[in-house]
Amino acid sequence: MQARHRIILDCDPGVDDAIAILLALACPEIDLLGITCVTGNKDLSFTANNALRICALVARQDVSVYAGCARPLMGPYVRKWPSVHGTDGLCDLELPGTPGHLAEEHAVDFIIRQVLAAPGQVSLCVIGPMTNIALAIVKAPQIAPLIHSIVFMGGAAFCPGNSSPLAEFNFLVDPEAAEIVMSSCIPLVMLGLDVTQKVRIREPHINAFEQSGTVSAMAIGAMLRAYGSNDPCLHDPCAVLYYIAPELFSGMEAHVQVLSNPPEARGSTVAAVSERHLGGRSPNCFVVTDCEADDLMRVLVDRMSGEMNHALEVGGRGTSKPKSGSPQRM
Ligand code: RIB
Ligand code: CA
Repeated sequence: MQARHRIILDCDPGVDDAIAILLALACPEIDLLGITCVTGNKDLSFTANNALRICALVARQDVSVYAGCARPLMGPYVRKWPSVHGTDGLCDLELPGTPGHLAEEHAVDFIIRQVLAAPGQVSLCVIGPMTNIALAIVKAPQIAPLIHSIVFMGGAAFCPGNSSPLAEFNFLVDPEAAEIVMSSCIPLVMLGLDVTQKVRIREPHINAFEQSGTVSAMAIGAMLRAYGSNDPCLHDPCAVLYYIAPELFSGMEAHVQVLSNPPEARGSTVAAVSERHLGGRSPNCFVVTDCEADDLMRVLVDRMSGEMNHALEVGGRGTSKPKSGSPQRM
């Protein structure tokens, strides 16, 4: 088996974050060093507790969960729209399992400590606003060249936003943090709406979990059914899937910038690809734009509950073959 990816998963659960956590826990290719949480889909008090609830759902209270930043870098966090994740962030469902307790250490200090302890070996999988990551880089700039890579769900390079006409949610919540990361010179892989909106949960996938008979899989099915009725796109699991099956993704090198101003463009992604648009700048990010969606869903369901692959034959459709550019090897 290929070398295991040593990952810190930074998130704001959120149902799609929850699926990403469960997928990371189910994959032998991933050595999950810890889960760090941030305000995003919900305030930190909810997102951190939800991470504990998700670990308890699959009896993985051994995984350490760290609370991070309670607000974006530059200003109060104001949610202007109802959340597709329900009131508590996990669609207000009762979940089995007894949650553990948060680690004492702050998420930012955990990230710094882990990177310094294993220079060049730790990858950050970031699936919420980038506040924790940016603060770690600002507090300990010496870690930037020591981070193996950052694979993140965020942004919208060549498509409209989902939280404003121009901005994707994670970038909109904390654009200043996202720009600190974009300009960090750390190897970056961006899974923005360009690709995540192509990875959609469908009835056969939900049925597969609901009919599995295991308590955790049925809870996952219930979460997916509630979440999917508002947003069927599995945004965050794409970032974890990239570590497991990069060959199912494709994209291109680009110079990515995140705007904070003017207000109507706050959180928008500016992706330069052509020589003219680059204007002498070097690319700073591999931007994923396409994927083989049905194959990815097969990997996801297989990994999370192996014996249900047959259900996908019912719902599978022709795959959308990647159009250009081989994925950057992690
Ligand atoms: O735009 C999608 C992103 O915003 C996902 O990470 C989802 O969890 C929300 O945080
Ligand atoms: Ca998220």
